[in-house]
Amino acid sequence: MGRVSGKVALVTGGGSGIGKGAAELLAQEGAKVVVSDLVAADAKTVADGINKAGGVAMSLHHDVTDEKRWVEVMAEIKKSYGGLHILFNNAGIALGGMTWEQSLEDWRKQTAVNLDGVFLGCKHGIPLMRDSGGGSIIITSSIAGLQGSPGLSGYCATKGGVRLYAKAVAMECARAGFNIRVNTVHPGVIETPIWTKIPGNVFGGNRANAIDPNAFATATAPLKRAGKPLDIANGVLFLASDDSAYMTGSELVIDGGVVAG
Ligand SMILES: NC(=O)c1ccc[n+]([C@@H]2O[C@H](COP(=O)([O-])OP(=O)(O)OC[C@H]3O[C@@H](n4cnc5c(N)ncnc54)[C@H](O)[C@@H]3O)[C@@H](O)[C@H]2O)c1
Repeated sequence: MGRVSGKVALVTGGGSGIGKGAAELLAQEGAKVVVSDLVAADAKTVADGINKAGGVAMSLHHDVTDEKRWVEVMAEIKKSYGGLHILFNNAGIALGGMTWEQSLEDWRKQTAVNLDGVFLGCKHGIPLMRDSGGGSIIITSSIAGLQGSPGLSGYCATKGGVRLYAKAVAMECARAGFNIRVNTVHPGVIETPIWTKIPGNVFGGNRANAIDPNAFATATAPLKRAGKPLDIANGVLFLASDDSAYMTGSELVIDGGVVAG
């Protein structure tokens, strides 16, 4: 028996990085996994890999900023797998730039994915989870949701926003008696493709060179390495499973010690 056997999980942004790692681990531990992503081909590759490895998965093209699509995604999950127990609200983007340089367009684009996308996931996921007997919502925040990071102020606003949003939704679900827990996970510097999308000047370097997460983490994290997607997936599995049955409105920091210092 796996730690999430018999459960159905939706992982947004599941086509890459942390989402991919979590989708694969949840499947290994017995969940039926819906891998959703803006990049449909990446979601399909991850779901195909899970099925080939003996797990059960399907993929969906899904833009988390599109409310109509959320309604369709929930209907497809109900039709294909009968319910939903684990919702990993993970899709996110990082658009760097000092506040006085950032365009309102970029601010809104980032907020639409990182904050609106999480709201829509909870709004449309909670009714299906409640009707499935309850479950666990995990939201990907960041250490940038716990401390200020110059050059990532807009990103910090979204990641700090989901941190407190999760606590409020946790209270709402508890009060309503839905048997749904809501927690955030706070990754530090994790080796994923997101870093190739952040211009190097965010942390004072050259705009043309993307940041190397390994070099950055070696210099800044007490454990002197970048994390791997599996380091975060292990925490997500814990929050998804009954091992964390008494945790709600809480936050799990997995960052090689960065915010402790
Ligand atoms: N990698 C890190 O160091 C790090 C640290 C802290 C937090 N995070 C957070 O972890 C989460 C996953 O990031 P990652 O590092 O795996 O990055 P990634 O770029 O590898 O994966 C993000 C995925 O989200 C998808 N996505 C983007 N916009 C979307 C949208 N509108 N709808 C649906 N999917 C969309 C992308 O296509 C991609 O597959 C993000 O929320 C990110 O902010 C990452």
